[in-house]
Amino acid sequence: MNQEVFELFKKRFSCRNFLKDKVIERDKILRCLEAARLAPSASNSQPWKYIVIDDPILKNEVVEYLTIGKIRFNQFAKDASAIIVVTEEPKNIELSIGQVALGRNFANFDIGCSVMQFCLAATDIGLATCILGIFDEKKIKKLLKIPFNRKIIVLIALGFTDQMPKEKKRKEIEKIYSYNIYK
Ligand SMILES: Cc1cc2nc3c(=O)[nH]c(=O)nc-3n(C[C@H](O)[C@H](O)[C@H](O)COP(=O)(O)O)c2cc1C
Repeated sequence: MNQEVFELFKKRFSCRNFLKDKVIERDKILRCLEAARLAPSASNSQPWKYIVIDDPILKNEVVEYLTIGKIRFNQFAKDASAIIVVTEEPKNIELSIGQVALGRNFANFDIGCSVMQFCLAATDIGLATCILGIFDEKKIKKLLKIPFNRKIIVLIALGFTDQMPKEKKRKEIEKIYSYNIYK
């Protein structure tokens, strides 16, 4: 087993303590995007788009919209160097029909794979990430001129930290698998 890959899995954690006022070079962000691009997806549909917000003023506006109703969440993201907004992009018609026929839409799953590759690549080059699932979709779409027929799936806070990875809290291994029959 490649220990380096395993160490990377342990090293990635959801950072809620970014170092302020740090700029990320765009070539580093591009490296993460390249990793995201290489992710697998159903029928290779690649139903994702990454909108990188590295303009500090715009980034602060996005953070203003990390809300449910009037309550703000995830305000630590204002110290991140960039916020990445990940949208679901339409699949071509054949793929859409195929997935409808199966009664499945794999877009969320596909985007999850891609976002994970983004986050792992970021960790590998010394950046910190936190996936954000709480946001006012309507307001962020308007702010970033995202077309009405696109959906925001998640945001990613990306930046620097001096925090060490935390011990992972996970279900015991025996609880997440069985061989040959569901248990
Ligand atoms: C889809 C998704 C949405 C999440 N939304 C948030 C969020 O809004 N705020 C937050 O602080 N963490 C969020 N997280 C991070 C999880 O809380 C975190 O992954 C989990 O507790 C495991 O911790 P770890 O990532 O440090 O290993 C989200 C993670 C995922 C995958």
